[in-house]
Amino acid sequence: MYRTHNNGQLRAADINKEVTLSGWVQKTRDKGFMMWVDLRDRYGITQLIFDEERSSKELMEKASQLGREFVIKVKGTVIERQSKNPNMPTGDVEILVSELTILNESKTPPFTIEDETDGGEDLRMKYRYLDIRRNPVRENLIFRHKVAIAVRNYLSEKGFVEVETPYLIKSTPEGARDFVVPSRMNEGQFYALPQSPQTFKQLLMVGGMDKYFQIVKCFRDEDLRADRQPEFTQIDCEMAFVDQEEILNAFEGLTRHLLKEINGVEVSDFPRMTYDEAMAKYGNDKPDIRFGMEFGELNEVAQHKDFGVFNQAELVVGIAVPGGNGFTRKEIDKIIDWVKRPQVGALGMVYSRCNDDGTYKSSVDKFFDQDDLAKWAEATGAKPGDLVCVLSGDKNKVRTQLSALRMHLAEELNLRDPKVFAPLWVIDFPLLEWDEETERYYAMHHPFTAPKPGQLELLATNPGDVKANAYDLVLNGNEIGGGSIRIHDRETQAKMFDYLGFTPEEAKEQFGFLMDAFQYGAPPHGGLAFGLDRLVAILGGQETIRDFIAFPKNNSGRDVMIDAPAPIDAKQLEELHLNVVTKS
Ligand code: AMO
Repeated sequence: MYRTHNNGQLRAADINKEVTLSGWVQKTRDKGFMMWVDLRDRYGITQLIFDEERSSKELMEKASQLGREFVIKVKGTVIERQSKNPNMPTGDVEILVSELTILNESKTPPFTIEDETDGGEDLRMKYRYLDIRRNPVRENLIFRHKVAIAVRNYLSEKGFVEVETPYLIKSTPEGARDFVVPSRMNEGQFYALPQSPQTFKQLLMVGGMDKYFQIVKCFRDEDLRADRQPEFTQIDCEMAFVDQEEILNAFEGLTRHLLKEINGVEVSDFPRMTYDEAMAKYGNDKPDIRFGMEFGELNEVAQHKDFGVFNQAELVVGIAVPGGNGFTRKEIDKIIDWVKRPQVGALGMVYSRCNDDGTYKSSVDKFFDQDDLAKWAEATGAKPGDLVCVLSGDKNKVRTQLSALRMHLAEELNLRDPKVFAPLWVIDFPLLEWDEETERYYAMHHPFTAPKPGQLELLATNPGDVKANAYDLVLNGNEIGGGSIRIHDRETQAKMFDYLGFTPEEAKEQFGFLMDAFQYGAPPHGGLAFGLDRLVAILGGQETIRDFIAFPKNNSGRDVMIDAPAPIDAKQLEELHLNVVTKS
């Protein structure tokens, strides 16, 4: 038997018990005549003691050979510690060892297995199995497990059935590139890994499953960021015979439940905001509403003077930075440099200090008087002591730039409290999105999303104005889920493909199966998918999803531990009918 107890279990009440423990050597302290070993496993740390008086010579000798991360088994007696450690659950006791078995030796690990490790990101990823021994990583994985279980229980309770859908499929267009898998048995043909189970869950609705969910891997070949991985997990859901209201309520319920169960937080409000409103107020379709700094549009109050920069701009817009009048000139210059960085791309920034005595001092005093600046303050909601920051230019660009500045300043001013949870539904997304590069419209969500009732005809004349029954769930400035009411009749779906530039042949070839299914009594349906990785990270008070994934990929999409992707040998290539020369 390897153990009678785990290493987080023993307390003063266990004193005098004979126990067997197994685990890893966290650290050793050897005083020659006396030696202590911290023994670690998933559950905690227990201190072992060996001493000249009470332990045999052989045992002392064996113990002295122990190194960090050796795997050992010990038998011994629980005794009271001389110097107790109130910071450790097992800190009242130690084990006087009578038998020591070395189960496996260990090389010295390349970084310390401590909460604050000396290992950099790359090293930790290469030795991820060692990283997982560290408390923060292990706790994140256990936290993820708790969220996943809570999701499954809740949805199952509400009548949702988990159904698995295939991974080897045909491409589903969700806006990213597909990962493809060559078929050995079908020369020159490829499967695609699903970007989401979108079409399958719709077919399950046609199949009468009524309420479906799946915690499922999705694959997207896209540029990576802190909140994006090439393979990630969705809580994918679909319901039949529901309207948008019922879907929003259902998943608001799930989100409330998770916040309560996992974080002990009761959220009173689940506000809704249209996409247009989100863009105008926050310059962003996933606004963080934990703090204010809403946009104030200033065209009317800033375009009547001789300041050319503003007069030429499509939009002049500002935010009030709380307490920002306290910034020194140097600090404001730093902000100006920040918005001028190529990543943000503003040409400059105008500011107005709101003094405590109700007067204003702006960087453009030559053009604007106190009355003008008072109007800026009013439009942005600035109070005495604040700083109004103003950007101008092309509407869409300037909104994006000011949104970036708003988030940057919120971060600097510690306004993004990870313990506060502010969910928000963003609704009424545009159906289509214009792509500058290819000069055509694409489905903003995906081609299966239904336009708002009565708007289908608008597609022919004003495609950019058509709104969809599509919604995103935003939590603390992160898009944690998105979905829509779907098209469920063949004719509308065919029209949609036509507007998106598919020829009838292409539509049939790629989506014939779905169009066919729609001819056999497809019920009205809709759904949503949460990004599980993002949801877990945010509930855990963080934003980097890598920290909540056991074996993540790095920013170049590589798994540096197993060294993938990698070339395959010539024979394999041949079998797959891939006659390409690969670089090795
Ligand atoms: P969507 O593309 O919005 O919708 O994806 C749903 C949610 O998945 C998460 N997500 C990601 N998480 C990590 N890494 C990625 N690369 C990544 N991409 C997306 C986000 C997002 O909100 N089939 C539709 C859902 C539907 O219409 O029901 C879909 O996949 O949190």
